[in-house]
Amino acid sequence: MTRSISELRSQRWFASSDIRGFAHRQRTQQMGLRREEFMGKPVIGIINTWSEMSPCHAHLRDRAEAVKRGVWQAGGYPVELPALSVGEVMVKPTTMLYRNFLAMEVEELLRCHPIDGCVLLGGCDKSTPGLLMGAISMDLPAIFCPAGPMSNGQWRGAKTGAGTHTKTYFDKLRRGEITATDWVDLESRMTRSAGTCNTMGTASTMTSIIDAMGLTLTGASSIPAVDSGHPRMASLCGERIVEMVFEDLRPSSMLTRESFLNGLAAYMALGGSTNAAIHLLAMAGRAGIALKLEDMAQMSAKIPVLANLFPSGTYLMEDFHFAGGLPALLKKLSDHLHFDARTVENRTLGEAIAAGECWNDDVIRDLDTPVVPLSQGRTLALLKGNLAPNGAVVKSSAADPKFLKHEGPALVFDDPGTMMRVLDDPDLDITQDTVLVLRNAGPVGAPGMPEWGNLPIPKALLKRGVKDIVRICDGRMSGTHYGTCVLHVSPEAAVGGPLALLRTGDIVALDIEAGRLDMRVAEDELERRRAELAPPRPLYESSFTALYQRHVSQAHEGCDFDFLSGVRNLPEPAIY
Ligand code: FES
Ligand code: MG
Repeated sequence: MTRSISELRSQRWFASSDIRGFAHRQRTQQMGLRREEFMGKPVIGIINTWSEMSPCHAHLRDRAEAVKRGVWQAGGYPVELPALSVGEVMVKPTTMLYRNFLAMEVEELLRCHPIDGCVLLGGCDKSTPGLLMGAISMDLPAIFCPAGPMSNGQWRGAKTGAGTHTKTYFDKLRRGEITATDWVDLESRMTRSAGTCNTMGTASTMTSIIDAMGLTLTGASSIPAVDSGHPRMASLCGERIVEMVFEDLRPSSMLTRESFLNGLAAYMALGGSTNAAIHLLAMAGRAGIALKLEDMAQMSAKIPVLANLFPSGTYLMEDFHFAGGLPALLKKLSDHLHFDARTVENRTLGEAIAAGECWNDDVIRDLDTPVVPLSQGRTLALLKGNLAPNGAVVKSSAADPKFLKHEGPALVFDDPGTMMRVLDDPDLDITQDTVLVLRNAGPVGAPGMPEWGNLPIPKALLKRGVKDIVRICDGRMSGTHYGTCVLHVSPEAAVGGPLALLRTGDIVALDIEAGRLDMRVAEDELERRRAELAPPRPLYESSFTALYQRHVSQAHEGCDFDFLSGVRNLPEPAIY
């Protein structure tokens, strides 16, 4: 389908002869543009999450200029619209509190302005789902331009990956294996360039999934942020979005359940972050596509981890890119993909990856030589039981295989401050059988479901060389981390989930193979405890957080707001 310029929504603003049309043209010329430069052209919004509080997006100001080049080249009129930058490291209490905020902002920026199509610039963890949730809801032609991973890290002859090795070296510091001076030296050396975390953390997981779903130029997700190929890719996004506007290629005309299943196949083969489970549920909810945690667990039972990247493996994103990137990985998954799903290039996924080739079979493994065989662990296992009736997840490929089936006494904490103090006691009476539990870390309770789920190994165990222990939390965990961490327990403790009933000393039974998470406490005892349960902490009375706590859904539903999930049917804004 091709549309003519007069059919574009921007023309309601620019083409009319009334006083409003005059004002829109007049005010555009106020910025120094000639009439000919914008009249009769599709208007392309460049949604930019650049900010000086987002080191991963430090280069996006320049990239917006590259996108504009492509838009001008193709005969469009580019306008840059800044949006909230949810930089993972600086934003507290957690970027997750603001993912929906960004999604709302993107949707409304697109709705209230004369925009015909958009290029979305982002990549640091929540920015990807936030940008896409908004774009899916507004349903204008959209193309995602991923920020790209930062360059490989090196320290004293060893590869270092953002996030993963911060944690590794922090544990070494706590064990006395490196000095405080080493630790300071590491600070300035680990992260060498702009770009998102170079490990298979949440950022690379999400941008790769979006690539597999056809919402980026094919293979764009792994191009290193500071490679000269990156601005060339950005310029091509600008050129392509102008064509997409005339083709009327919208998220709703591209995205199907099959696109999401392709995303899931990539997710599992990448050994991706547990966070993606929540974001994909939210995105599918916006698109009106049925998707459940069960779909993810089923895909994960079929596809082992093939990408040999930290934290599951030993390489970094730059290595993955030069090994062939996502097209090479997807080709190895051919039997599990829906090749007829569409991409922003207006072709099928099968056509898009046909030329993909793998240049390093150690970085991108084959199905019969996986990084972690299915018998030893999966990217995402789903658990249910009397501790998590609606589900909890665990990345068992990043867990010590001896914990795949485990029973042990719980050590329960209600807040992270107390937990940190207790676990730092070098004489704490604890064994490796103990199951550490932190609750009140969910979407409502924390609030915002922070990444507290990678509970620290108690110092007393670290001294004995223990590297893993079973941990349970109703919060999330950074995708760059590893360990037997059961996450996203739903319903969360703060809304009365059974995790709230667990007490220190109760026996917790984890059986990942069977998909079970239970507490061995009799039903009548649980009833008694429920009757005694203290009322939940009061909610915030004002601010965005008040809105968040009242409207956020639970982890197994994607933590979107109830009033934003589902397909919109809103009229275009009135112009008078
Ligand atoms: Fe931005 Fe990891 S902190 S991607
Ligand atoms: Mg992260």
